[in-house]
Amino acid sequence: MGDITIRPAVSADLGDLGRLAGELVRLHHAADPARFFLVDRVEEGYSWWFSRELSNAESVILVANDAAKVVGYAYGALEERNWNLLLDAHGAVHDLFVEPTERRAGVGRKLMNALVTELEKKGASRIVLSTMVSNTSAQHLFEGCGFRPTMLEMIRG
Ligand SMILES: CC(C)(COP(=O)(O)OP(=O)(O)OC[C@H]1O[C@@H](n2cnc3c(N)ncnc32)[C@H](O)[C@@H]1OP(=O)(O)O)[C@@H](O)C(=O)NCCC(=O)NCCS
Repeated sequence: MGDITIRPAVSADLGDLGRLAGELVRLHHAADPARFFLVDRVEEGYSWWFSRELSNAESVILVANDAAKVVGYAYGALEERNWNLLLDAHGAVHDLFVEPTERRAGVGRKLMNALVTELEKKGASRIVLSTMVSNTSAQHLFEGCGFRPTMLEMIRG
């Protein structure tokens, strides 16, 4: 892997974003199908969703590029106060994904740090994320970026 550039996503990235988001969804579904859905044409659905989010001033979509291709992405957004969650206005990290062949080379951390910077520039004074309890590698990354565990989601059925 060559040098990695982190940059804002553009329309030309929508195919890659849909593909990578699809991998992220499939990974979650495979780990716990009762909790994480897998819809038909998931890649197409996410390309459509990101095409809308690209023009949302409260959203941030970043891609990691090596010389040849997109190897990962991060997606987050500003969210309003949520009374149900007892959570004041915040930045939310929705997605972080790095191609399996490109992992453990610092790309995930670069993406995460850049996403935090961009959400803070947009005014987020706190940033919140959720991750699968079993995903300890991601949790190590997040703790290294200054996050601490808070809530534990539980499901029946
Ligand atoms: C989690 C993920 C984004 C990490 O990407 P990455 O480019 O491999 O991460 P980095 O190389 O920047 O690693 C940063 C730190 O994370 C931790 N980490 C990453 N992968 C790890 C692993 N397999 N085991 C243990 N720790 C790990 C380490 O603390 C690492 O620092 P170190 O290499 O100095 O020890 C990547 O594994 C991925 O895309 N996983 C599938 C999707 C996912 O789980 N997304 C996050 C939840 S939504």
